[in-house]
Amino acid sequence: MKRVLITGASSGIGLQLAKDYADNGWNVVGCGRNTQHIDALAQERDNVTSLRFDATDLDDTKRALASQDVRFDLIILNAGTCEYIEDGRIDVTLFRRVFDINVFGILNCIEALQDTFTPGTHLALMGSTAAYLGLPRAEAYGASKAAVSYLSRSLSVDLDAKGVTVSLVSPGFVKTPLTDKNDFAMPLMVSPEEASLAIRQGLEKKKAEVHFPKKFSYILKFLATLPMACQFALVKKITRNTQ
Ligand SMILES: NC(=O)c1ccc[n+]([C@@H]2O[C@H](COP(=O)([O-])OP(=O)(O)OC[C@H]3O[C@@H](n4cnc5c(N)ncnc54)[C@H](OP(=O)(O)O)[C@@H]3O)[C@@H](O)[C@H]2O)c1
Repeated sequence: MKRVLITGASSGIGLQLAKDYADNGWNVVGCGRNTQHIDALAQERDNVTSLRFDATDLDDTKRALASQDVRFDLIILNAGTCEYIEDGRIDVTLFRRVFDINVFGILNCIEALQDTFTPGTHLALMGSTAAYLGLPRAEAYGASKAAVSYLSRSLSVDLDAKGVTVSLVSPGFVKTPLTDKNDFAMPLMVSPEEASLAIRQGLEKKKAEVHFPKKFSYILKFLATLPMACQFALVKKITRNTQ
């Protein structure tokens, strides 16, 4: 039976992925700090295990993951958060919180698991379409996801020689507790079920980048090819009506 490890499986996209992989016969290890939802899933299904650790803490991450002595076919490093800055004012503490989980949470898991990688291991890193363009108030979140995007592309090159595939996952808006906090319009938002399907289908094909919903992600990808001054003017115009 194939094995998948999913971080951030206690809520939102990660929880849906855990349910869907379990339904499809995978052995699932679902991780989080507050594991009550994964614990409940693990009680219903014998192919789900819940693993509690704080991914921002390297020692805690290593301790928890060392308890898993079998290699994973698929590792989805999805745990993350989103915080927006106010009035363009930089708040370094906020940046550290966001980078701590979105970037260092991924790095901590990779450091803890890298010795278990074998040819065929598939690593999926959770990015965001927010990384494509400079969006208002997204300085910390967008920069953290841009770091994940670079990390994914760079690691793909280095790990290819070892037979390890790296995929970047770039969702648009997905309805989860993370986006429930947003106070602005979120065009073409999809459900966690739709997000999970797009992610699982894209990862099944071992895509370098799994991005969705396509109508949204392709528009942003196109805007990102324009000169920076045009991007800036268009983002300003578009977001003026949605904020
Ligand atoms: N929703 C969207 O529109 C959207 C769009 C693009 C990208 N994403 C990305 O998708 C990922 C999942 O987001 P979501 O929307 O599903 O949000 P969510 O419902 O808030 O879930 C976030 C998950 O991350 C886990 N997490 C946060 N901090 C953690 C820590 N220090 N250690 C371990 N786990 C931690 C949370 O678990 P615990 O609190 O139990 O630890 C939770 O399971 C994030 O990386 C997010 O940036 C989301």
